[in-house]
Amino acid sequence: KPVIFSGMQPSSDSLHLGNYIGALSQWTKMQEDFDAFFCVVNLHAITVPQDPKELAERTRTTAAQYIAAGIDPAKSTLFVQSQVPAHAELAWVLNTLTGFGEASRMTQFKDKSQRSGADSASVGLFTYPILMAADILLYQAHAVPVGEDQRQHVELTRDLATRFNSRFGDTFVVPEAQIQKGTAKIYDLQDPTSKMSKSAESEAGLIKVLDPANVTKKKIMRAVTDDDASIRFDREAKPGVSNLLTIYSVLTGQSMQSLEDEFAGRGYGDLKKSLAEVVEETFAPVRTRTEELLSDRAELDRLLTTAADRANEVAARTLDRVYTAIGLIR
Ligand code: TYM
Repeated sequence: KPVIFSGMQPSSDSLHLGNYIGALSQWTKMQEDFDAFFCVVNLHAITVPQDPKELAERTRTTAAQYIAAGIDPAKSTLFVQSQVPAHAELAWVLNTLTGFGEASRMTQFKDKSQRSGADSASVGLFTYPILMAADILLYQAHAVPVGEDQRQHVELTRDLATRFNSRFGDTFVVPEAQIQKGTAKIYDLQDPTSKMSKSAESEAGLIKVLDPANVTKKKIMRAVTDDDASIRFDREAKPGVSNLLTIYSVLTGQSMQSLEDEFAGRGYGDLKKSLAEVVEETFAPVRTRTEELLSDRAELDRLLTTAADRANEVAARTLDRVYTAIGLIR
């Protein structure tokens, strides 16, 4: 089976709707046809300051949400990055193959470091995409299912794989980003021209998987729309309404055309109320299952350790080949 690899940072108390639609819901479908590795990337999370207790807690909560949303630990290898030392080891090697200018062109660093100021941003935040390349290449992944914001990082990964292969001999599969057209970027409900993000200034436009139904409903009812009270998809002229329709369409599987027909002549309030129900139907079971999983930490940790063993086996094999190819004595 071809291999897929993807990951999420455990840097929030809950995944958000963008993570769910852009990544997680894709993963659950793909795990049937691929040898799938899904990682909770806690080494990435520490590129910005984290509270230690919270980080440990959020690592488990993130893993639990993967499972609750449908990742089957019997089919997929769902593991925690820090439990597989090869990630940090390969990242070091790739660091030495990455140009400073090349790394400087990564737009996410520019965005993220703007908040703290580039001088106080960590070097880890700067080399973050290189650790991500290591994640992917260790498993010889063919495809990387992610949202639009990760496209540039997967491009860098391809460049590094190609460079390594031509310099040291064929070692890595050159992976491809798998980005779903139309749903790879879910927008903030208050600012529908920016992507929904846990680091947004306000949480008013951020829908969280683990939030109670009334909180989510309130946020949806207050979503920014426009004055032209017609319900149709038009990303340019009607970004707010289009975002709501996109979410509606992915979560129900209903086509845009049939949604436009269904809501023709009705008001935004109607659309929002229905959407709140759709979101709640999707997230309620995920929430319940997450709580169940978190109520038995020992079992959850056991699942993660078993998966880390499997991941370690695959990753160590690749790292061995890398070290040998470069001439690093083992
Ligand atoms: P992270 O944790 O920021 O986000 C996890 C996944 O969610 C997607 N995503 C979105 N999709 C659609 N609309 C949105 N508004 C939205 N916000 C987030 C992201 O594209 C991502 O797929 N660098 C990665 C984590 C990572 C990784 C990897 C991913 C580390 N190593 C290896 C793939 C392969 C990140 O910070 O994702």
